[in-house]
Amino acid sequence: MKFRLLLLAALLVAVIPADARKRPQKFSHQTFDIPAVQPRVIDVETSGTQLVLQVDAKGTVRTVHYGAPAGDPAQFMEFDAGGQHNFSAPTTYPTAGGTFNGLDALHVKYSDGSQNTELYYTSHEVQVRDGITTTTVHLKDYVTSLEADLIYDACVPEDVILMHAVIRNCGKKAVELRNAASASLNLPAGKYLLTHFYGGWATEMQMDQTILTHDTKVIETRRGTQATQGNNPSFMLSPGGTYSETDGEAIAGALAWSGNFRISFEIDQSDRLNIVSGINPFASAYPLRAGDSFTTPEMIYTWSGEGAGGASRNMHRWARKYGVWKGGQVNPTLLNSWEGAYFTFATETLLRMIDDAASMGLEMFVLDDGWFGLEHPRNSDKAGLGDWEVNTDKIPEGIDYVAKYAHSKGLKFGIWIEPEMVNPDSNLAAAHPEWIVQSPGRDIYMSRNQWLLDLTNPAVQDFVFGVFDRTVSLSPDIDYIKWDSNRRVMSFGSPYLGDEQDRFFIEYVQGLYNVCRRMREKYPDIIVQCCSSGGNRVDYGSMRWFNEVWTSDNTDAISRTRIQWGTSLVYPPCVMGSHVSAVPNHQTGNVTPLKFRFDVASSGRLGMELQPKTLTDEERALADRCIRSYKGYRDLVFNGDLYRLSSPYEGDFYSLMYVSPDRRRAVVFCYCLRFQNHSIGGHVFRLRGLDPALKYRVTEQNVDGSCWWGDGRTFSGSFLSGGGFNPVFREADTSAVFLLEAV
Ligand code: DGJ
Repeated sequence: MKFRLLLLAALLVAVIPADARKRPQKFSHQTFDIPAVQPRVIDVETSGTQLVLQVDAKGTVRTVHYGAPAGDPAQFMEFDAGGQHNFSAPTTYPTAGGTFNGLDALHVKYSDGSQNTELYYTSHEVQVRDGITTTTVHLKDYVTSLEADLIYDACVPEDVILMHAVIRNCGKKAVELRNAASASLNLPAGKYLLTHFYGGWATEMQMDQTILTHDTKVIETRRGTQATQGNNPSFMLSPGGTYSETDGEAIAGALAWSGNFRISFEIDQSDRLNIVSGINPFASAYPLRAGDSFTTPEMIYTWSGEGAGGASRNMHRWARKYGVWKGGQVNPTLLNSWEGAYFTFATETLLRMIDDAASMGLEMFVLDDGWFGLEHPRNSDKAGLGDWEVNTDKIPEGIDYVAKYAHSKGLKFGIWIEPEMVNPDSNLAAAHPEWIVQSPGRDIYMSRNQWLLDLTNPAVQDFVFGVFDRTVSLSPDIDYIKWDSNRRVMSFGSPYLGDEQDRFFIEYVQGLYNVCRRMREKYPDIIVQCCSSGGNRVDYGSMRWFNEVWTSDNTDAISRTRIQWGTSLVYPPCVMGSHVSAVPNHQTGNVTPLKFRFDVASSGRLGMELQPKTLTDEERALADRCIRSYKGYRDLVFNGDLYRLSSPYEGDFYSLMYVSPDRRRAVVFCYCLRFQNHSIGGHVFRLRGLDPALKYRVTEQNVDGSCWWGDGRTFSGSFLSGGGFNPVFREADTSAVFLLEAV
């Protein structure tokens, strides 16, 4: 034993260099000089909002203001951003490390294992182009050579500011991005009411509200796909502590990302609110090689002094111009085959539905699921996904025949695909098992009898684009594609990524966007609906490629009031596919009058989703009237300003209206959701957005005699807003729609 110890000592003496042996080993430490900078403010303005960043002499950048225009930004030089008196105040893009212990926007692990990053201002520049002012703030970590650009795109007339970051590894070795948020917004101490959106299948975008308290409230998903089932990456914040449609400050925020997201709201020790939003770092320590950069998705913010209604209108205006593919384009009314035929149809069924759609004045027929799969026919959700050839047993004449028939009747033609998915019972699953999302040695769990294709793999991206491309090539008369996606990620993993599984969640979404980019380069004019078991991919990441969304599989008009109200807080009504379906409703069993169903669906992009043969002559006549009148005011639904008047979450009456930009026309929707007392007079709805000095002629639409108020009369804008609008309802599930035109 003694001999062995002596031998070990001798060996150590031999391998440790002589000078190191003299003194104890020390952790090498060298500090870098951070060049001083001229203190300054950086001003980001829109026509009605202002964001101000303050740079101190050390180069620390802090957000000192976001909200109402506050005049000369130089005044904010005097603001105590927390730098002098509170060493631990968050910076504009807080990093893990330095003196800060709160929520980080950036967390990097370096090759030596260290995880501290300190970003300091180096310079900034401003570019102005057509309605958008872009401010880029350059930050640098002097120890690791990591650089970050914070980019603020101020959409000036819309009062929207987009924020994102570009992280550059300017060091010599690879690093790991453990978190790279899109933005961090710091707001002063106060009482904040957060409105956010939760849901499940058929209950999307339900409003939930909470007063933010100390510590952190997180809204997030880890579902990978169907990312907005559960929570939506958007919110409405009321800095006054109470929600108002009309008054006080409101901030709406939305992340443009269709995968895992995380938005954290931290009230810190100083009562400030720090909102950090971006890709969810869950299982995503993203590798960044030397010289590489990572661009985060955009976080979209708007502020309004006119309550949540004002913030929504800003967001909608921005979305119609920038956030939605051809936003504001008036998309056709349609009949969708799903709830009318499901998987059971033949050519004849489709032709008769087309005839009926044409006779009711609809403008498009959409053939939903069930038209494909030869060896594995898609007669239920158990087979066929992946095999995108026409099922000639059902449609021997082919898709072109049906599409041409629709066109011959004056209708456009659309068709359904679900290109990211595969049924085990398909040729594709047998041919390409390596394309399926899976983790070695584990079950590939099924959901709706299907598996998910691995969009991180470029070969899968080619396949998915090919599905779109080949489907469109089935006929020159295809005008519309419904792109569905009916499952989430489980037991995540990509055979393609090998041992770099940290890239999976991020590169799945990037792969999806690559396909969408190719789709739009080749097919800019095809109308594409984004569907994911209803509204489970409703986010501004996908909407930049899609014309509209299938708001929910729940077509029950009563359920839709809440879903559509919630959706409208952040997303524009022009994207909301909204269909009249049969009763009892297939999702809820509720029975509501046809007029009520039409009046609810008409506040979005109107469609029908039933077998028209089941309608009586009287119902068809009503359908015809409703569709005709919708065509007369739908420009307002697509491009008008939305005013939400009374909430389906709060009372017995629900109401909303759209006003034209010149305020000369408006359409008002009023619904009675619960009727309690015959002795109470009609509910008074105070209209908004009208010109008080103008006189408006009121014309009731979709009349069936269930309600009447003011039809053919003329009232002043000030009366309609101050006195109010007083339709008389005598039953639950009744409704009225009024067109207002300035005379
Ligand atoms: C889910 C969609 O949300 C429905 O509208 C329908 O297209 C089905 N998928 C078809 O499988």
